[in-house]
Amino acid sequence: MSKQQAENEIQKLREQLEYHNYRYYVLDDPLLPDAAYDRMMRQLEALESEYPELQSADSPSQKVGGFAARTFSEVVHAVPMRSLANAFSEEELAAFDRRVKEIVDLEKGEVEYIAEPKLDGLAVSLRYENGWLVQAATRGDGRSGENITQNMRQVLGDKTKLIGKSIPKVLEVRGEVFMRKEDFDSLNQRQQSAGSKLFVNPRNAAAGSLRQLDPEITAQRPLSFYGYSLGQVEGGSIPNTHWDIMQWLSGIGIPTSDLLERVQGVAGCLDYYHRLQRDRDSLPFDIDGIVYKVSRMDWQHSLGFTAKAPRWALAHKLPAQEEVTTLEKIEIQVGRTGAITPVARLKPVFVGGVTVSNATLHNRDEIERLDVRVGDTVVVRRAGDVIPEILSVVVDQRPEKTQPFIFPTHCPVCNSAIVSEGDGVIVRCSGGLVCPAQRKENIKHFASRKAMDIEGLGDKIVDQLLEQEMIDDVADLYLLTIDQLSSLERMAEKSASNLVAALEKSKETTLPRFLFALGIPLVGETTAETLSNAFYDLEPIIQADIESLQQVPDIGPVVAESLNAFFAESHNRQIISKLIQAGVHWPKAEQKQSVVDSPFSGKTVVLTGTLSMARNDAKKQLQLLGAKVTGSVSKNTDFVIVGADAGSKADKAEALGIEILDEETFIRMSDYEA
Ligand code: IVH
Repeated sequence: MSKQQAENEIQKLREQLEYHNYRYYVLDDPLLPDAAYDRMMRQLEALESEYPELQSADSPSQKVGGFAARTFSEVVHAVPMRSLANAFSEEELAAFDRRVKEIVDLEKGEVEYIAEPKLDGLAVSLRYENGWLVQAATRGDGRSGENITQNMRQVLGDKTKLIGKSIPKVLEVRGEVFMRKEDFDSLNQRQQSAGSKLFVNPRNAAAGSLRQLDPEITAQRPLSFYGYSLGQVEGGSIPNTHWDIMQWLSGIGIPTSDLLERVQGVAGCLDYYHRLQRDRDSLPFDIDGIVYKVSRMDWQHSLGFTAKAPRWALAHKLPAQEEVTTLEKIEIQVGRTGAITPVARLKPVFVGGVTVSNATLHNRDEIERLDVRVGDTVVVRRAGDVIPEILSVVVDQRPEKTQPFIFPTHCPVCNSAIVSEGDGVIVRCSGGLVCPAQRKENIKHFASRKAMDIEGLGDKIVDQLLEQEMIDDVADLYLLTIDQLSSLERMAEKSASNLVAALEKSKETTLPRFLFALGIPLVGETTAETLSNAFYDLEPIIQADIESLQQVPDIGPVVAESLNAFFAESHNRQIISKLIQAGVHWPKAEQKQSVVDSPFSGKTVVLTGTLSMARNDAKKQLQLLGAKVTGSVSKNTDFVIVGADAGSKADKAEALGIEILDEETFIRMSDYEA
């Protein structure tokens, strides 16, 4: 690249970054996910270091992100609010640690760091004088921010007065305002019912809620705050390690995260990083990285600051859960029960740890709400095992001549009319089993591992069997012969005979599997199990009326209705008879005794917060001990096991008077004498 080209490129990147800063910090409405922004910033930094003569003090690379917007009055920070240096790899972390050791002159041993979650919210500074909150401000451009005192009073509630005796006359606490995931979900539900705009993610919701001119609105938004460092301190002393400062802050009434840990050197940092990465999805709030801070305050002072960030802290980014890519096609999928789901086919993109090329668009309303069009650059999110979804469209990158997507009125597979259900959000193909797509999905579901578990009956074979009209319904599967199967494409005689053997084997099943395999709308594995435990055999379930179905715990009117409608359909009863005639059978279920006799047998348990063991392991353990593990706290809950940073579930349990166990007690109780 020539110097002239570099100059042009730098200019372009600076303008773009300024614009995206404005969208993020002032409008609370960013267009790009952080990963894309970070890449742009790195590109700029690389060019500026290659051509130092093109560096400039007002480049976005030299500034602390934000702006002091004009809506609120201005607060000049007594001590500037800095940003954090980022690391995207272990090497960058190791380089940071080397630099720290060099500056503090540590030749042997390891530096003690405090590792903490990097909360994805917005930084604020709280100024307490004589223990009272007198001012709260956003970070702004780091030098001055917005006066949000009234709003922060709403967020802090009774935390506007510190508790304890030896509180410095002036104490500035810096921290993050954020929104917990479940609070975000319920806020968005409220927004939707009110017909208001939905927030894209908890960070935007937090920013938008905090920067409301009317504190009454902020009061209605569920915001949380955790302190993470200090600003100005006068007229008093503070502990001499970051660890002790954090303990002290928590003692005087500042909310802090209980995920903080003391770790030694790079190895300790990485161990913490990997544990939090593993538990990221079960944390009650979004995090976008881990922050490591040198604990000794005397060392923090020797390390000091660069223009932008402290030299004693580092933000180690976690893999991005949001990325940008291109929408290549919108396809309409027809599910087993006719539900129509629009699916986005994407240019493959690495996000949330995997390559994603499909994402759900949920429903017709969602497409309209996003106004997403083929050719658009879109933001995709993939977090944990959740199906990837499209969050938003980067409208300023929309190509010319795109067309709004027109949702079909007829099933793309069988051409039957598409009908709306309930409030109109869910639409279905009205073709029923006439629709080849529904038939196909139904058969695939029947054969799947958790249903009849017919090994070797893959999608391609089901497609061919239907196309060649060798089967009409699931019962026909059991009439297939080796000869017939060998005539299929890419099906050798050996595989054909294996498949027949697998079909034979699948005939010996259990009642819950069979019920689940039938594909009754709303009857998943758990409901099938519940029904089997309550009725012991199929016939009583078929005969049960809506009222008796509803007597069964966990079966509500909607599921009861669905079961009743399914069995009322003569076609469905015929298929069941055909299956039984073909030899499908199951042992009559016995009333289920819990396998073991433990303090958890027959109890309903909820897990919340971060445990030292993986959430799934805790769940399995409880199930082995005879417990039922559910996701939300209700009056039917017997125990709530609470890990670090537990959110509103723990509060709810307390309010309902449900027994709360910490992890240690849980482990002790699990280790009972059988
Ligand atoms: S320390 C001078 N600790 O990350 C110390 N920041 O990218 C500066 N953040 O502006 C911050 N969690 O808004 C610190 N545990 C944590 C944090 C944290 C989130 C945010 C904060 C900061 C930004 C820098």
